[in-house]
Amino acid sequence: MDSIGSLGLQQREGAPSCPQEGLRCPSNSSELVPECLQQFRVTGAQLRQIQTSLLDSMEQALKGQASPAPAVRMLPTYVGSTPHGTEKGDFVVLELGATGASLRVLWVTLMGIEGHKMEPRSQEFMIPQEVMLGPGQQLFDFAARCLSEFLDALPVGNQGLQLGFSFSFPCHQTGLDKSTLISWTKGFRCSGVEGQDVVQLLRDAIQRQGTYSIDVVAVVNDTVGTMMGCEPGVGPCEVGLVVDTGTNACYMEEARHVAVLDEDRGRVCISVEWGSFSDDGALGPVLTIFDRTLDHESLNLGAQRFEKMIGGLYLGELVRLVLAHLARCGVLFGGYTSPALLRQGGILLEHVAEMEDPSAGAARVHAILQDLGLNPRASDAEFVQHVCAAVCTRAAQLCAAALAAVLSRLQHSREQQTLQIAVATGGRVFERHPRFLSILQETVMLLAPECDVSFIPSVDGGGQGVAMVTAVAARLAAHRCLLEETLAPFRLTREQLAAVQAQMREAMAKGLQGEASSLRMLPTYVRATPDGSERGDFLALDLGGTNFRVLLVRVATGGVQITSQIYSIPECVAQGSGQQLFDHIVDCIVDFQEKQGLSGQSLPLGFTFSFPCTQLGLDQGILLNWTKGFNASDCEGQDVVCLLREAIGRRQAVELNVVAIVNDTVGTMMSCGYEDPHCEVGLIVGTGTNACYMEELRNVASVAGDSGHMCINMEWGAFGDDGSLSMLSTRFDASVDQASINTGKQRFEKMISGMYLGEIVRHTLLHLTSLGVLFRGQQTQHLQTRDIFKTKFLSEIESDSLALRQVRAILEDLGLSLTSDDALMVLEVCQAVSQRAAQLCGAGVAAVVEKIRENRGLEELTVSVGVDGTLYKLHPHFSSLVAATVRELAPRCVVTFLQSEDGSGKGAALVTAVACRLAQMTCV
Ligand code: G6P
Ligand code: BGC
Ligand code: BGC
Repeated sequence: MDSIGSLGLQQREGAPSCPQEGLRCPSNSSELVPECLQQFRVTGAQLRQIQTSLLDSMEQALKGQASPAPAVRMLPTYVGSTPHGTEKGDFVVLELGATGASLRVLWVTLMGIEGHKMEPRSQEFMIPQEVMLGPGQQLFDFAARCLSEFLDALPVGNQGLQLGFSFSFPCHQTGLDKSTLISWTKGFRCSGVEGQDVVQLLRDAIQRQGTYSIDVVAVVNDTVGTMMGCEPGVGPCEVGLVVDTGTNACYMEEARHVAVLDEDRGRVCISVEWGSFSDDGALGPVLTIFDRTLDHESLNLGAQRFEKMIGGLYLGELVRLVLAHLARCGVLFGGYTSPALLRQGGILLEHVAEMEDPSAGAARVHAILQDLGLNPRASDAEFVQHVCAAVCTRAAQLCAAALAAVLSRLQHSREQQTLQIAVATGGRVFERHPRFLSILQETVMLLAPECDVSFIPSVDGGGQGVAMVTAVAARLAAHRCLLEETLAPFRLTREQLAAVQAQMREAMAKGLQGEASSLRMLPTYVRATPDGSERGDFLALDLGGTNFRVLLVRVATGGVQITSQIYSIPECVAQGSGQQLFDHIVDCIVDFQEKQGLSGQSLPLGFTFSFPCTQLGLDQGILLNWTKGFNASDCEGQDVVCLLREAIGRRQAVELNVVAIVNDTVGTMMSCGYEDPHCEVGLIVGTGTNACYMEELRNVASVAGDSGHMCINMEWGAFGDDGSLSMLSTRFDASVDQASINTGKQRFEKMISGMYLGEIVRHTLLHLTSLGVLFRGQQTQHLQTRDIFKTKFLSEIESDSLALRQVRAILEDLGLSLTSDDALMVLEVCQAVSQRAAQLCGAGVAAVVEKIRENRGLEELTVSVGVDGTLYKLHPHFSSLVAATVRELAPRCVVTFLQSEDGSGKGAALVTAVACRLAQMTCV
């Protein structure tokens, strides 16, 4: 077993030859020994000062304070839970950095049953000094060679191995398997590694070694491995404390207190990195000249000041500096010094541990000092023991002050007055130094009396714990693969979108020619967009979206004024008899007229009826089929204007002049066209989806005339009903279609619109839960309830701010308990589903604007698209994704998307106004 300090403590290049300049021998050296020992005495007040100041730095760092930079880093480790003992499997663990100039490889088998443990097999490899100070690639190649050498001795064959990398240096982690080295500590100084992802460096080295297929699935700090290695029976331990060559601690912090994390629930393990604590105010008074000398000669001057007072790499050196000083001043060893006494690293921790151990006795001290080339007198041995005790006692006390700061933080974080906590301890200072733990315990009890702390020594230096984290990471990595597999069909390539665009163009051409096509391309008899000369008061109805509205639209010189009222269409009416539905509509109109003082007036009425209708004229619309959950009987195949007029007829004393029936896409185009004459396309992405546009009349086979334009209602919701989209349809789309009241119909709509996206997400979540990827595989009644996952949840969940908090809030309201990984995956499912919807919608718009451009034989087309619909308006990214897809697929069209403010009711009134104006012109 190698000694702690042996190789780690390198002389810093260019360090001044005689570091002890500051160490003068007093004229009267009789008091020198007690004086030196006194320097290592730390008072209770000083320890409390350190505890308080470290706590302040911890809380500043948690809040994300940038300047002044807090004295400790508080690094999130992506370990969100302590082990629940179910982890199982064989794992390889590579430990680098915990034990200074050596690395360890372990084979750990987790049994997955509480308390069942298999002794890990391990092997330690000494790291040559030139490797610790050389190029980073050399170090990682060395590690990869050790791995192979270790595995050569085991019957692993060529099975894929999963490795957990215990890397005991300060790192910014951005994932369980992604970690960037901030700075080396503890005698390591390899070039080309700081600022790099150490997992990638190890993967590259293993690749270069090429002997075993090893997947590095997790990287953890040794403190985390120590904490996670705590026997579940005893723990769980929520603090991991390491004092080996270096020192550090980690603990489970409330995620909401960690500013850099977007989490408000659960806990996350934080690596404190207290080795860098160097608040001069707190440490200044306890820093001795020996500490300054040690730092001055170290590889990392001014860094890791706190660690250099506690870590096993430095304790021997501190003792050596004191003994060398006392020897030079003639107080010890008769003023004789030896090369070992003057050589940095000459005295190692186990020397100190042995010499200080009261049971070791003077004889052992003599033996060690003689090995160091000294000839100690009887009194020398006693003095040396005092020096060892002073250095180590201070180290244990300082460590206790730091641990007490962590305990205070836990009390704050959990708003608890008293705290019962288990601390896992690891590192050879604990193992080798007889009194370190007891001094630590005593001091913690002094500094944190309200905390009941149990110290649990980690059995194998955290190897088991690293394997636990690796098992969790492996499980998460496997889940991630299953998630990617599940979401891959939603991720459409440019080629696939271009194919949809081309197929839609083809279907448009066929539909316009009256050939079989899933796009009906229905003439709307709207031949022109408003020219601004329209005037008058009009009633408008808006049926087919989320809300049924009755509107009074006043078109005047100063513009358009709208008064409207929303009425509900209960499901039983939407799916009842046609008569009942239209009677309900007339009831709402009458109620509106009464409220607006319009009773008895017969204003021209425009009817936005957002369902596929064959129009024979502006005021004739034969309903082809219901969509969007409507299914009133005796309507399909009927002229809905007649149905409305019959309902008006059934209601005494009501007179209404139904002038026009328009589709909501047409109403939206007209409404936006009133402001922008370039607006020649109408797009709805709401409960349903559809588009219309101004087509050249010559291209509309079913309407006579070769000049001028006709607005075509594409009814693109039905695109693909002929199976042409089946290559894009996923198993979840099929489930949604199966469960709908119009199976096999509106396939394009069922991939895009608000009525269905929530259901696609719900079916995808159910599938991922059945794979055990989500919610620990727990299927809940809630999630099996149809329509319980509203499409508006996607908009909330994908909002840029508070994403994961939204996910939690929504899913917990659905009775689901979830981990932060679950929340992240649900977010990704929502993103995949809404992104596909927006891209498909964009491919559709690209097809339409390219059609218009080619119709007009233009090199470049400038056109505006009037848009309405809750999904398009409320989803945080939908509109920008649609626009991006259109730019990609129709680069020769400059497309402006105009969100309609007043809905299509205004548009219906404008169509009515145009019809009335044209009618007046023919009368005169
Ligand atoms: C607006 C229009 C309606 C249209 C609806 C679609 O409200 O006025 O005519 O049907 O948008 O969006 P929605 O999300 O309500 O289905
Ligand atoms: C490192 C820590 C590590 C500690 C104990 C310190 O030097 O910065 O990451 O946990 O040593 O090994
Ligand atoms: C209807 C269209 C309507 C669209 C948007 C679809 O279900 O078939 O007529 O334009 O929804 O509301």
